[in-house]
Order: sequence, then structure tokens, then C-alpha cells
Amino acid sequence: MKNAQPKDDAYKQFAGSGTCAGCHKDIYEKHLRTEHHLSTSPATATTILGRFGAGNNSFEFDPLTSVAMEKRGDDFYQVEYSAGKEVRKEKFDIVVGSGRKGQSYLSWRNNKLVQLPMTWFTAMDQWSNSPGYSPRKPMFDRPITSRCLECHSTFVEKLNDTSQRLESFDRNRIILGIECEKCHGPAAMHVAYHQKNNSKEAKYIVNPAKLPRERQLDLCFLCHGGALSKTKPSFQFQAGDTLSNFFSLQAAMMNADNIDVHGNQAGLLYLSKCFTSSNLTCLNCHNTHENEKDRLQIFSQRCMNCHSESHGKTCKLTATIGESIRQNCIDCHMPKQPSHAIAVYLQGKDAPTVAFLRTHYIKVYAEETKKFLNQSKASHQ
Ligand code: HEC
Ligand code: HEC
Ligand code: HEC
Ligand code: HEC
Ligand code: HEC
Ligand code: HEC
Ligand code: HEC
Repeated sequence: MKNAQPKDDAYKQFAGSGTCAGCHKDIYEKHLRTEHHLSTSPATATTILGRFGAGNNSFEFDPLTSVAMEKRGDDFYQVEYSAGKEVRKEKFDIVVGSGRKGQSYLSWRNNKLVQLPMTWFTAMDQWSNSPGYSPRKPMFDRPITSRCLECHSTFVEKLNDTSQRLESFDRNRIILGIECEKCHGPAAMHVAYHQKNNSKEAKYIVNPAKLPRERQLDLCFLCHGGALSKTKPSFQFQAGDTLSNFFSLQAAMMNADNIDVHGNQAGLLYLSKCFTSSNLTCLNCHNTHENEKDRLQIFSQRCMNCHSESHGKTCKLTATIGESIRQNCIDCHMPKQPSHAIAVYLQGKDAPTVAFLRTHYIKVYAEETKKFLNQSKASHQ
């Protein structure tokens, strides 16, 4: 049904999120505020969060070498200077990241994309060297692969020049942002059908809530399951498909010590008793149409859908902590932990600075419990 058109015409199967607004206005408007939507955007004064003001716009690699962020005309550039002389400049074309942790920036070289050397690191309000880059000298040539775009956008058409070392993309056939059709499947037929027919029954569209548990998890696993190795070209997987037909999932089945809190929420969740002892999926806790960042009370209520007096096990600390336990199950059972993958070099630092993310390995953390109890004691004195 959803593959009625040949794959090589994949781009034409998309209707674009703008068309959904006509019939699903409320969801459309909320989606604009989600991190999925903001995950990739064209680079503009609004979408680039990093600073360009004097004193805030430069990164020194050594006393002779620096990169400055500069606005020239309507465009934005990363400019390398050597001993005060401009030696190279590359344009910001695409922003990657809503900015929750940070933003990286991509630049077009003909039909290829490269990552620029400077990344914005939100927690420190500073420019930093892009993750994984050498702190010794600026690098302008790291290629961007279709897999990177597969996790951060809805669709990009690859050009067929396999002779090239770097992948090439069709600049006119890109759908930036993680949009409606990434999670619901390409929807041109759905839109055409409902524009013609006054039917209340949905046609030619995937609703993840109606998928079997495994297929529902597969959709989120595509991007939240760590570094999977592809067995088929990127962008062929669509909502409702079986992930193992497109990726080898072996690498994902690692032990807890190897799973980074960045980019592999699924791997960590799968270790948790909540997951192995119930039919839990991401959707028990996440409402993907809403930006619910930091609303720990809402998330705690969702824990209590299963852990309440009326059913399931309740927290053994309920009596110790009292009523206020209902406000926050999260800091004790899903504490923020350091990522080894998002580690950047800040100006003048010899060791990398890491980002902290919520672990999805839900269990008892003795140290975090101590911290939590001490903090609440302190705040009551
Ligand atoms: C011309 C009107 C129209 C447009 C445009 C439209 N839809 Fe729908 N859609 C409907 C109707 C009617 C239904 C069925 C009633 C309902 O669930 O709201 C529906 C249902 C859905 C459902 C639920 C399906 C289910 O089985 O529960 C999803 C998901 C959906 N649409 C996604 C989209 C997306 C994504 C777009 C944009 C690419 C879109 N729709 C554009 C009319 C439209
Ligand atoms: C196309 C890849 C992709 C798919 C599919 C995807 N995500 Fe994401 N998700 C991301 C990326 C990338 C981010 C980070 C966006 C940013 O901050 O720039 C993200 C962020 C999030 C966040 C944090 C932001 C927030 O809204 O609180 C949650 C939660 C989340 N995703 C849940 C899900 C769930 C649940 C599913 C499955 C229904 C899913 N995602 C499917 C790539 C994806
Ligand atoms: C396997 C999927 C996947 C791949 C491949 C991937 N990312 Fe991500 N990325 C994510 C997810 C999921 C998040 C957000 C949640 C998290 O950090 O776990 C994220 C977060 C980010 C963030 C921080 C966003 C924010 O708002 O804080 C940046 C920047 C980023 N990625 C850049 C890149 C770049 C550049 C590439 C390619 C070179 C890339 N990522 C490859 C899945 C992926
Ligand atoms: C990250 C994945 C994701 C994105 C992006 C996304 N959705 Fe959904 N959508 C879902 C999931 C998951 C459900 C099922 C939610 C549930 O019922 O628990 C859903 C349900 C729906 C439904 C039917 C149920 C309802 O709430 O009415 C419609 C209609 C819909 N989405 C439209 C859209 C439109 C339009 C957009 C873009 C503006 C969009 N979605 C973006 C994941 C997504
Ligand atoms: C879909 C139901 C469901 C949801 C939602 C859920 N859990 Fe669980 N959880 C379970 C089940 C089932 C177990 C196993 C209970 C048992 O051992 O009998 C469990 C076990 C646990 C355990 C014990 C883990 C261990 O290793 O012994 C903790 C702690 C826990 N859950 C906390 C949470 C928190 C915090 C949330 C919300 C962030 C949550 N749960 C959401 C079903 C759920
Ligand atoms: C038992 C509840 C629960 C389940 C199930 C769950 N999450 Fe989460 N998730 C949370 C909570 C709580 C947070 C923290 C929210 C915050 O601080 O804004 C979170 C945060 C996130 C974040 C942002 C992490 C960060 O620190 O930036 C992403 C991405 C995410 N979840 C993706 C997923 C995906 C994908 C799944 C399914 C594989 C999933 N979650 C399943 C409760 C859950
Ligand atoms: C102050 C930290 C803290 C908070 C807040 C907290 N927990 Fe716990 N939780 C613990 C500790 C510690 C244990 C283990 C206690 C023991 O074994 O004696 C535990 C145990 C549990 C268990 C396992 C119970 C069992 O019988 O095996 C569940 C389920 C649980 N918590 C759920 C929750 C939920 C749901 C919330 C929010 C309503 C919550 N917790 C809030 C620290 C906390």
C-alpha cells in the first residue's frame, strides 16, 4: 500500500508537513515546537543559536590559529585565521540540533556536505571544537553521510555516483527536520485521498499507536538505537517496516557498560525490568507531538500508571519521602549521566567537556538516592 510507487520516486511520495496543517492544525502547530522538528533547519539568524557578537565569536586553537564566526551580508561563515590573516572561510548552510545540548553546522561543497569545525555547546554558552575533532587544528572536511541525515532529517535523495568517495545529495530533494512523514510514512496518497473523499476513516497512513509493539519500537529504534550497521541504503526504512530488514541489530545488543546515554535510549531501556516485565514502549512515557522537556512531574505520573497502590510495585521509599515523591521519580531512577560520545574541547581546556543525558536504564541508583535525599533535606532547613 505505502510502497505503491516505485522507490526511485521516493521524494514524490511525500506531501510535506505544510499540507497536514489543513486537516490536523493542532498537531501541526505543536509539532513546530518539538526538538524533532528543530533537529535540522536551513541556517538563518534565527536557527543558528551560537553567538556572533565580538568577544563571543571566536575559538583559538593556538596563539596563531583561530576560527571566528562572522556574518557577511546575509550569510554566516566560519573563518580560519592564521597569524591574523584570513586563510579560509566556509558558509553555514544547515543547522543540526535543536540546541538542547548543542548545534553542529553543515556546509555544501557542490553536492556534498561537510561538517564545520565549530560546534555550539549550549550548557557552557560557548563555541567548541566539534565532537571527535582534534583540539590541535581546525578541520573543515569531515564528510556528512546519509546515515547522519537519516537520523536528523525526514528525507534526502542520494545522487548515484558510487565512484565518489563521499556521498552526494540532491540539494533540491531534501526534507529537513524530523517531520510528520518520518513517523507516519510518506503521505501524498493519504492527502490526495482525503482531499477528494469526505471520509472520516483514515486511509494510506501509518499510526504508530496501532502497530504491534515490535514495529512501534522499530520506528524509534531507527534513530534512538545507537550506531546500527546498514544492510540496505539509508532512507528506505519507513514507519511500519521491520528494522532488521534494513540494519544488522547485532551491535545494538551490547552490555550496559558500552551503551552511551547519547543516541541509544532503546538499548538502555531494553535492559530495564520495566521493559522486560511489561509491554512498555517509548509511547508509555513520550507524547511525540509535544515538547515536554524537563516536565518531570508529567513523566512521574506516567510511571505511576504502572507503579501505584492499586497495581504494580510501588516505590519502597514512599513512606520515607511522603506525598512529594509523586513529583519526581526521575532524578532517582533515571539520573542524568555523562555521554562519552558528546565530548567537546572548550577554549583553553586540555580535557574534553561532556554533555549529560537522562539514562533510560531504569533501576535503583544508590548514590543518586543519597544525593536526592540530602538535597531535599537541605531545602527543608
Ligand atoms: C484533506 C484532509 C487531510 C490532510 C491534508 C491530511 N489528513 Fe491525515 N487524516 C485525515 C482524516 C479525515 C483522518 C481520519 C480521521 C482522523 O483520524 O482524524 C486522518 C487521519 C490521520 C492519521 C491517523 C491514522 C489512524 O489510523 O489513526 C494520521 C497519523 C494522519 N492523518 C497523518 C497525516 C499527515 C502526516 C498528513 C500530512 C502529510 C495528513 N494526515 C494530512 C485527513 C487529512
Ligand atoms: C529520524 C530519526 C528519529 C526518529 C524516527 C525518532 N527520533 Fe526522537 N529524536 C531524534 C533526534 C535527532 C532527536 C534530537 C533532536 C534535537 O534536539 O536536535 C530526537 C529527540 C527525541 C526526544 C527528546 C526531545 C523531546 O521531544 O523531549 C524524545 C523524547 C524522542 N526523540 C523520542 C522519540 C520517540 C518516542 C520516537 C518513536 C516514536 C522517536 N523519537 C523517533 C531522532 C528521531
Ligand atoms: C543513529 C542516529 C544518529 C546519527 C547517525 C547521528 N545522530 Fe545526532 N543525535 C541523535 C539523537 C537521537 C540525538 C538526541 C538524543 C540524544 O542525544 O540521545 C542526537 C543529538 C545530536 C546533537 C545535539 C542536538 C541538541 O539539540 O542538543 C547534534 C549537534 C547532533 N546529534 C549532530 C549529529 C551529526 C552532525 C551527525 C552526523 C555526523 C549525527 N548527529 C549523527 C541521533 C543520531
Ligand atoms: C516522532 C514521531 C512523530 C512525528 C514527527 C509526528 N507524529 Fe503523529 N503520531 C506519532 C505517534 C507515536 C502517534 C500515536 C500517539 C498515540 O496515540 O499514542 C501519532 C499519532 C498521530 C495522529 C492520530 C492520533 C491523534 O493524536 O490525533 C495524527 C492525526 C498525527 N499523529 C498527525 C501528525 C502530524 C500532522 C504530524 C506533523 C505535524 C505528526 N503527526 C508528527 C508520532 C509522530
Ligand atoms: C508499562 C508499565 C511500567 C511503566 C510505565 C514503568 N514501569 Fe517500572 N516496572 C514495571 C514492571 C512490570 C517492573 C518489574 C516489577 C517486578 O519486578 O515485579 C518494573 C520495575 C521497576 C523498578 C525496579 C527495577 C529493578 O531493577 O529492580 C523501578 C525502580 C521502576 N520500575 C521505576 C519506574 C519508573 C521511575 C518509571 C517511570 C519513569 C517506571 N518504572 C515506569 C512496569 C512499568
Ligand atoms: C518509563 C518512561 C520512559 C520511557 C519508556 C522512555 N522514556 Fe525517554 N525520557 C523519559 C524521561 C523521564 C526523560 C527526561 C525528560 C526531561 O528531562 O526532559 C526522557 C528523555 C528522553 C530523551 C532526551 C534525553 C536527554 O537527556 O536529552 C530522549 C531522546 C528520549 N527520552 C527518547 C526515548 C526513546 C526513543 C524511548 C523508547 C526507546 C524512550 N525515551 C522511552 C522517560 C521515558
Ligand atoms: C529519593 C530517591 C527515590 C525517589 C524519588 C523514588 N525512588 Fe523508587 N526507589 C528508590 C530506592 C533507593 C529503591 C530501593 C529501595 C529498597 O530496595 O529498599 C526504590 C525502589 C523502587 C521500586 C522497586 C520496588 C520493589 O518492591 O522492588 C519501584 C518500582 C520504584 N522505586 C518506583 C518509583 C516511582 C514510581 C517513583 C516516583 C513515584 C519513585 N520510585 C521515586 C529511590 C527513589
